[in-house]
Amino acid sequence: MQRISEPELMEAAAQARAYAEADFEEANSLFVDSFRVAFGADLRGRALDLGCGPADIVCRLAQYYPQLRFDAVDGAAAMLKWAERSVAGYGLGDRVALLQRHLPCHDLPAARYQVITSNSLLHHMHDPHDFWAMVAAYAGTGSRVMVMDLLRPASLAAASALVAQYAAAAPDILRRDFYNSLLAAYRPAEIVRQLQCAGLAQLEVGVVSDRHWLVGGRLG
Ligand SMILES: C[S@@+](CC[C@H](N)C(=O)[O-])C[C@H]1O[C@@H](n2cnc3c(N)ncnc32)[C@H](O)[C@@H]1O
Repeated sequence: MQRISEPELMEAAAQARAYAEADFEEANSLFVDSFRVAFGADLRGRALDLGCGPADIVCRLAQYYPQLRFDAVDGAAAMLKWAERSVAGYGLGDRVALLQRHLPCHDLPAARYQVITSNSLLHHMHDPHDFWAMVAAYAGTGSRVMVMDLLRPASLAAASALVAQYAAAAPDILRRDFYNSLLAAYRPAEIVRQLQCAGLAQLEVGVVSDRHWLVGGRLG
C-alpha cells in the first residue's frame, strides 16, 4: 500500500487533548523498556526528544535517569500545554525543558546530545530525510539513539482492523488520527534506506510489535 501523508503538527486543542488523555501505556512502556534494555541504567548528560507531544515518554525516562537533562521539542503549542502538565506532575521542571520548534530546526540549546529519542514523529514529517538529518546533526560519538514509530500495514483493511483492535473505545478524533497515522507510516525497508542516506546505517532496525518498528543503537 502506498503511503498517504498526514498533517505534521497536532495543533487542534481537541486533537491534542484526545491524544494526551489516551491510553498509550503499552506503546510507551515498550519504548521505555526497550531503551533501558538497550542502554542500561547509567546514562548522563543531555538528552533530546523530538516530537515530544504530551511528554509521557520523556518524563518516564527522566525519572529513571536522574543524571539526564532533557530538551523536549514539539511544534504544537496545544500539545506542549499537556507536556507542561506532565512535567509539573512528575516534578521534573528542573531537568526537562519544553521547546516549541517546527522541525527540522538548527537552533537547539546544545550542539550535541548524548541521547536522542523520538516516538511517533517520523510519519508526520513530510520529508523523512529532514528528521534523520537532525538526528545525525545533533548526535555525537557515543550518542544513544532510539526512534520508534508505527508500521504501515499492507492494506486499508489491515489499517482498519488495527484501529478496531486497539482503539475500539477511543474517541472518534483519536481513531481517525490513528488510522491516518497508520497510512502515513513507513515500512522497515524504507527506514533502512533512510538511515543509509543519513549516514546512520549502523543503527539497527527491528519490528517490535504488530504495528511498530524500532531503530536503536550507539553511534560510533
Ligand atoms: C503522534 S505525536 C507523538 C508524541 C509523543 N512523542 C508520544 O510518543 O506520545 C506526534 C507529535 O509530533 C509533533 N510534530 C509533528 N510534526 C512536527 C514537526 N515537523 N515539528 C515539530 N513537531 C512535530 C506533533 O505536534 C505531535 O505532538
